[in-house]
Amino acid sequence: MFSNRFKDKVAIVTGAASGVGYAITNRLLQEGASVVGADLNQERLNALQSELGDRFLGVQTNVTQEDQIAELVEATVRKFGGLHIAFNVAGASKAGIIKNLSEADWDFTVDLCLKGVFLSMKHEALQMAKQGGGAIVNVASLNAHVPMYAGAAYSSAKAGVEMLTKNGALEMARDGIRVNAILPGLIETPLTAGLLASPDIQAAYLERIPMKRAAKPEEMTGPALFLASDDAGYVNGASLLVDGAWATSGYPDLSRWF
Ligand SMILES: NC(=O)c1ccc[n+]([C@@H]2O[C@H](COP(=O)([O-])OP(=O)(O)OC[C@H]3O[C@@H](n4cnc5c(N)ncnc54)[C@H](O)[C@@H]3O)[C@@H](O)[C@H]2O)c1
Repeated sequence: MFSNRFKDKVAIVTGAASGVGYAITNRLLQEGASVVGADLNQERLNALQSELGDRFLGVQTNVTQEDQIAELVEATVRKFGGLHIAFNVAGASKAGIIKNLSEADWDFTVDLCLKGVFLSMKHEALQMAKQGGGAIVNVASLNAHVPMYAGAAYSSAKAGVEMLTKNGALEMARDGIRVNAILPGLIETPLTAGLLASPDIQAAYLERIPMKRAAKPEEMTGPALFLASDDAGYVNGASLLVDGAWATSGYPDLSRWF
């Protein structure tokens, strides 16, 4: 059973319709928070609205569009009266080696993974500053530190998210806002399902992961919620690797699949 440590807190979770965002949303609700889940996927948000009850509000949002993020924060305040914590989780990528990567695919990945986090942080922080503070948790990746074959756009964007997190911590401490990041390794979600469906690719990954397994999305929730909680009151600008010790052993060589 979970505690009630987020009772009376209001949270935004982007990417709430699937994978890590959905797991964080569920756990926040179990720990007493009210949660606004932002996602592109309206159909799935509708299903969550029935599944999760009155302390959940789904708001269809494209995190790459500033007006939609501003509206998300306004909708949060209208429904639940404020905003205390935020989890910027939405992300995806279009893979390709640099020599073949189109400008459109670069823009898709960097806009979603980096600009989306910037816009989310900006509007979340504007509201939190008005209320005297808050906590923001960004989801970066092990790829912020370790490059991935055919993942230049994604790895660059995630490295950007890590720096954006530190910059946010530096600028927002005076507003009482803490900004931290988790850097997950491999998680079993719809994002990685295609990749992991290949036994060869899965084996290449597991060779590198000392714990010899991918994480479940739920295993991201403890670290992410810790960073948003009062227990992390003096943790600010931090990057928390949640990777089963993968960072100790480098990235698999994926070049034979491209
Ligand atoms: N799965 C992994 O192995 C892994 C590893 C490291 C980091 N991450 C990061 O974790 C985060 C969550 O990934 P996941 O595995 O849960 O993926 P997922 O595909 O299960 O969920 C991502 C969600 O983001 C939503 N989304 C996509 N584009 C959006 C947009 N423009 N605006 C709003 N929502 C949008 C999708 O609809 C989806 O519901 C991502 O930032 C990802 O880069 C994942």
